Amino acid sequence: MLTLLFYLYENLASSLHFFDKLKGSDYLTNTGAVLMTQFTGKHVLSVAQFEREAIEKVFLVADSMIPYALRKKRTQVLEGAILGNLFFEPSTRTRVSFGTAFNLLGGEVRETTGMRNSALAKGESLYDTARVLSGYSDIIAMRHPQEDSVAEFAEGSRVPVINGGDGTNEHPTQALLDLYTIEKERKFHDEGIDGLNIAMIGDLKYGRTVHSLSKLLCLYKDLHFTFISPQELSMPTYICDMIANAGHKLTITDQLEGSFNADICYQTRIQEERFPSQDEANKYRGKFRLNQQTYTKHFQSKTVIMHPLPRDSRAQANELDNDLNLNPNLAIFRQTDNGVLVRMALFALTLGVEDKVSDFDRPVNWYSNKGQS
Ligand code: NCD
Repeated sequence: MLTLLFYLYENLASSLHFFDKLKGSDYLTNTGAVLMTQFTGKHVLSVAQFEREAIEKVFLVADSMIPYALRKKRTQVLEGAILGNLFFEPSTRTRVSFGTAFNLLGGEVRETTGMRNSALAKGESLYDTARVLSGYSDIIAMRHPQEDSVAEFAEGSRVPVINGGDGTNEHPTQALLDLYTIEKERKFHDEGIDGLNIAMIGDLKYGRTVHSLSKLLCLYKDLHFTFISPQELSMPTYICDMIANAGHKLTITDQLEGSFNADICYQTRIQEERFPSQDEANKYRGKFRLNQQTYTKHFQSKTVIMHPLPRDSRAQANELDNDLNLNPNLAIFRQTDNGVLVRMALFALTLGVEDKVSDFDRPVNWYSNKGQS
């Protein structure tokens, strides 16, 4: 009898939780992710939440942020709002671009960096930390070394949480900014994302950016993916299956050999911090070096070169040589600039101010040459 009562209670609780998740106009995907049919108040945890319509919305809002990022004007639309920027793993551009994006919308940023500086080091649960910090912030961006940790944190948060990278799992904002960059680079050649030929190189096992980007690209049509990695660092099978099931062409190789005919070449870093030992990581560092000579040998003269950064420029690795810096197809710094626009768009959308940004415009009073480059 007691067992039966407990069973009923458990089922009722999980159904209530399910309906709680479905509050308002929420729709769930078959993975349980809340679809971004509307953005206000939503967590951004996975690319699985995005369909093409939602992506187009983000990109449209991102475009509207260009004058603010170029300091042609500024806005105070988020004056008084606080971003909790929690980074429990090393980060330069993701952390700073989240902060910059929030500042550019007029909001303030409170940062916590490193596990050792937080109460998580004293055994506090992610749930408790989320309950506490969501009391101090209007929105939270978070990076953490554990897979699914950001989703677990979001369960305890009363404000929207944006995933800035959870272990080897996902990096949705990077995937969105990568896709935004791909779209812009393709537009330059009067082409769209459908029909894209993309080569991804390096650590495809531990690299979360290539996981999220591949999943997002599955939403488009007639793509050709080429995965170039040592066999031990190959793309997880479930992502390869997803690509095949979506009807795309997939080539897998462990050699940087021959001509790849790619529109985009997406290079990655060996994620040495995720290997069991440095010696193990060292086996693969420097295996696929891209410089002007290898680029000319394996790619087209218009192939766009991307990398989520940081590139490992130490001699043993040097996966993307400085001799490519003057190559006009090197899009790595266009990616980092676009990251601010996409994160501004996500903040504006999740905080429900995307249509009010220009109502709070202010002039720029200082010297700035950002618009010149
Ligand atoms: C990437 C990351 O942290 O996953 N960097 C980033 O966010 N731009 C890639 C990497 O660290 O190699």
